[in-house]
Amino acid sequence: MKILVTGGAGFIGSNFIFYELEKHPEDSILCVDCLTYAGNLSTLEPVMEQENFSFVKMDIRDREGIFDLFEKTRPDVVVNFAAESHVDRSIENPQVFLETNIIGTSILMDAAKAYGVKRYHQVSTDEVYGDLPMDRPDLFFYEDTPLHTSSPYSSSKASADLLVMAYHRTYGLPVTISRCSNNYGPYQFPEKLIPLMIANALADKPLPVYGEGLNIRDWLYVQDHCKAIDLILRKGRVGEVYNIGGHNEMRNIDIVKLICDELGKPYDLIRHVEDRKGHDQRYAIDPGKIHKELGWLPDTKFADGIRLTIQWYLDHKDWWENIISGDYQKYYEKMYGEGGIH
Ligand code: NAD
Ligand code: DAU
Repeated sequence: MKILVTGGAGFIGSNFIFYELEKHPEDSILCVDCLTYAGNLSTLEPVMEQENFSFVKMDIRDREGIFDLFEKTRPDVVVNFAAESHVDRSIENPQVFLETNIIGTSILMDAAKAYGVKRYHQVSTDEVYGDLPMDRPDLFFYEDTPLHTSSPYSSSKASADLLVMAYHRTYGLPVTISRCSNNYGPYQFPEKLIPLMIANALADKPLPVYGEGLNIRDWLYVQDHCKAIDLILRKGRVGEVYNIGGHNEMRNIDIVKLICDELGKPYDLIRHVEDRKGHDQRYAIDPGKIHKELGWLPDTKFADGIRLTIQWYLDHKDWWENIISGDYQKYYEKMYGEGGIH
């Protein structure tokens, strides 16, 4: 099987490429990524020379380039990870989220339709369901929970999901969608909660917690997400949405304190800063469908996964220290520095 993976130089896409090459060495992977601030070619170095792997630097918004690539490479399957993925950045500048996450998706699907791909898989997010109230722990997101978004990011992802379903119904494109909860693990860009707190704690810098830190996220180790997508590609039913999550709800403040404990750092590094605008309260996935239909269950418990993750960041300082220099410093100053929005 020839799999075209977009956004494979980012966090989840790169982990997915490693997972697939290991699990299905008979398949070949073509990674397409335009290398935004979040994409790092160095991440893919370990597989760059592998015969069944190739990389093309291309923007999914480049219609001509994408069609040309499909003409030349004729992929069997497309897995679209490429996206602008950070909520805070979407609040600052929504436009690029609409362009990549919506228009980019439509261009990929047009090409998939024109070249008869056997499966187009859209990597979506639980954020398309909006949030759940804090005082109703009995409520969960199901696949038929109405889309009800809060941020420009989640709205762009929900728009893409609607388009994907429209391409299925209107043109018969063989699609699947997965909606996963918050991922953590190796190669996550240090603007996201867990790697940001690890990097700051290691440097004895303040740990910026939005508001009271009581918001709840449902954390899943990245490899468990990759395993679920792999199953959906091979066994999932066309035209279906699959939720992915491991029933691991935690408050932000508890995650930050856990990271302090693991690294032997004091809680007085924690700073409660201005809350995120439109901040979603609680996410909680019901993964019953993917479990029942495809037998998926997560392998990694949070207690193990967070230790593996912290150890990975300790062992790969060069990877993230490179990333947090340059442009990222400017972003950080703007968002968190003196006079910044948070
Ligand atoms: P990321 O920001 O780490 O990586 C995104 C990748 O896409 C980068 O390599 C970037 O260079 C590339 N990219 C961005 N715009 C592009 C464009 N126009 N053309 C080509 N490449 C482009 O994101 P991530 O956290 O790995 O998320 C991957 C996907 O998974 C996204 O679609 C996101 O919505 C979804 N998702 C993420 C999470 C999470 O917790 N991180 C959870 C559920 C779903
Ligand atoms: O749920 C899936 C989504 O998870 C994905 O679709 C997104 O791409 C991904 O970025 C993630 O979104 P979140 O907004 O939940 O993740 P983030 O790491 O930005 O924030 C997690 C929580 O931590 C959230 O409640 C905001 C809070 N936070 C975040 C940062 C960066 C802080 O308190 N301080 C911070 O500095």
